[in-house]
This record gives sequence, structure tokens and C-alpha cells, in this order.
Amino acid sequence: MSFDPLVIRRDFPIFSRTIRDGKRLVYLDSGATSQKPQQVIDAEVDFYRLHNAAVHRGAHQLAEEATDIYEGARDIVAEFIGADRDEVVFTKSATESLNLIAYAMGNAPLGNRFHLSPGDGIVVTEMEHHANLIPWQQLAARTGAALSWFEVNQDGRLDLSNIESIITENTKVVSLTHQSNVLGTINPLKEIINRAHQVGAVVILDACQSVPHMKIDVKELDIDFLVFSGHKAVGPTGIGVFWGRAELLEALPPFLTGGSMIENVTMTGATWAPAPRKFEAGVPNMAQAAGLAAAIHYLQEIGMDSIHAHELKLTQYLLDKFADLAPLKIVGPKTIEARGGSISFTFGDIHPHDLGQFLDSQGIAVRTGHHCAWPLNRKMGVPATTRASLYLYNTIEDCDALVAGILDAKKYFG
Ligand code: ALA
Repeated sequence: MSFDPLVIRRDFPIFSRTIRDGKRLVYLDSGATSQKPQQVIDAEVDFYRLHNAAVHRGAHQLAEEATDIYEGARDIVAEFIGADRDEVVFTKSATESLNLIAYAMGNAPLGNRFHLSPGDGIVVTEMEHHANLIPWQQLAARTGAALSWFEVNQDGRLDLSNIESIITENTKVVSLTHQSNVLGTINPLKEIINRAHQVGAVVILDACQSVPHMKIDVKELDIDFLVFSGHKAVGPTGIGVFWGRAELLEALPPFLTGGSMIENVTMTGATWAPAPRKFEAGVPNMAQAAGLAAAIHYLQEIGMDSIHAHELKLTQYLLDKFADLAPLKIVGPKTIEARGGSISFTFGDIHPHDLGQFLDSQGIAVRTGHHCAWPLNRKMGVPATTRASLYLYNTIEDCDALVAGILDAKKYFG
């Protein structure tokens, strides 16, 4: 199938509406959440209209259908990321997935491979969004483990010069983003993963900003855990994915407890079902799983390689335009190498919130602020930026509209 964003846009009902009194919607905020094609909306609505029942419980036809849809979604996710089906856990979000791992590690008893105590180390990077920082801060505070991090240089790349003193024999966990939601930087995973595994640490990859945009294979990456959310990948809100190697899921204690996640219960105790059910307490997010399966199917039909190539083309186009747009300053890599389509920038003295509001008046949706990555903003010396984040439905026309909008803002704000 040849890649045509104009054809793709027809699948997304939101692009048939207008913004701010009749303006074309230029949506450049997919890093925050993506828009949804009709196929995803239909899958979620159809679940409620035709199949709604609690999975894994009822003895009736609807329960059987709902279970087939929910477990079918697990197969689809597993195939999408190169995993085994029992290694795929559904959560409500990537944030919940990360909290799940951190809380579960905090509950690991002495003798469990995930047990942390003073002297152990947790490693993150300075470019994490809060979802992949605060759970580790909390885990460090609960267990006495030390939190350390790779710093980011002014080009928006990780400084790995001291990798051996950051990831040490004491490091138990390394958790990092694949692609920065602010800088667009794609991190050099191989070197970090090799070092982490050399010292016996597990590697958690926050793939919120990469799974929607490029082909990911968890086995090829040689990571131990992976998280991502559905809503950034043209799927519904309310569903996230937590993948872990089978033997690690077996060792990891549960996070939420209750129905579904048990094997046997007495008045004084319980034993756990094997993964993935051990991590899916309660009636799960079934309609959202149906929507996520439709989203993945949609992305696969178009082709992850085509989506990635399209985004790189647009990213290069914007980087070139921005290079000539003084006083615009890109916060992050200025070249296309190892970067994706999140481009954050400042524009002279115009505050990002003012710029964002001005662009909005022209129908252009961007994100402004610290992008849930406060320490990174401080490190880059900017209190806030404006961010354009690209996806499969964006066009060169969208990029031109942004550039024209910024030039208009320059005139407007003098
Ligand atoms: N982490 C999301 C973003 O970058 C919410 O906008």
C-alpha cells in the first residue's frame, strides 16, 4: 500500500471538523496523545454494542466473545512487539505500567531477585518524563537504594562517558526512555543495555514515544521490560502495555491484588495465578483492549517502516525550515540522526504559552510548557518550550502552516 497522509487523514473523523471559526485543524500534538481512526472508535463502540461482558468469568456466550476479543488483543500486541502472549500485561496506561514495576519491586521480599536495599542502585536518565522518574524516586525512598542518572548534554544527547561509574556492580535497575518526548532524541540503547546486563541489572524501556512510530522487537532489543500506552499509538485512552520476560514476570510480585489475579484464596491468604493474570486484578479494560487491537492492526496495515520514513521526512523538513527561522532555537538534536519527530523550541522572548495560544488561534495545536519533564527543562536552561510532535497523518502543509504561524507570531508580538 503506498503511503499517503491525505488518504490516511480520511480515516480520522477529527480532521473533518474545523477549529477556531472555520480553520483547518493542524494537529501537531501527537506526543501528548494521537488522534483516532474510525476503525479504532468502531472497535471500542462495537465491544459495548455487541459483546459487552466481564472477561474470564461468565458461562454465557457474551462472556466467551468478550474473552476472545480481550485475549485476541493480547495476541495482537505480542505479535506487534515480538513477544510471547503470556508476557503481555494490560494496564491502564504506561504510567501505571511503570508504577507497577516499581511498586512490585518495592514489595519484593528478601531473597527475591527484585528485592532492593541500601547499597543497591537504580539508574535513569535526565531526559525522563515524570512517569519514568517519580516511581523510581519513590522506590529509592522506600528501599534505601540510590538513584543515579545519565546526564544530558546541550545537544540533547545522553552523556555516556562515565557509563561504568553510573551503571555499577550495585545497579539493579536501569530504566530509560527510548525516545525523548521533549528532545526527540533516540537513545543509544545497545551500549546501555550491554553494560546493564554485564552487571546483572534489568533494563526497562519506556517506549511511549517509540512504539507508535517505529518497528520494535523486544527480543532484538534485548531488554527485560517494556512499557507503552495505547493512546499515543492511535489507540484508546485507558489502556497501557507492560511487557516482561517470562522468567522475570514469574519472579516479580504482584502490584494490585483482588479478583482474577489469584490461583487460590482462603480466609487468611492467597496464591497468585501465573502471568499475565497475576498483574491484571479486577475486571480489565476490555473495550480499550479491543480498540488497541484495532489500532495496531491499523498501523500494521499501513506499515511501521512507512510511518517511520514519513515522519523522518517531515522532521527533516521542519529542521531545515527552523534552521532559517531566527530567533528560533531547537532544544534537542538539530540533525535527523537518532532523533524522531518531537521538536521542541524557544522563539526569542515570546513565551511558549503565548506562542501556543497564538498558533491555536490559527488552528494549530502544539504543546507548550515543561512537557512533564521538569528536570530536563532545567538542564537545558529553559523554563518551557513549544513542541511540535509529528505523526502519520501530518503533511508538509501542516509543517508549512506551523512555520507561517510562527512568522505571524513574530510580527504580532513585535
Ligand atoms: N508525556 C506526554 C507528552 O509528552 C504526555 O506530552
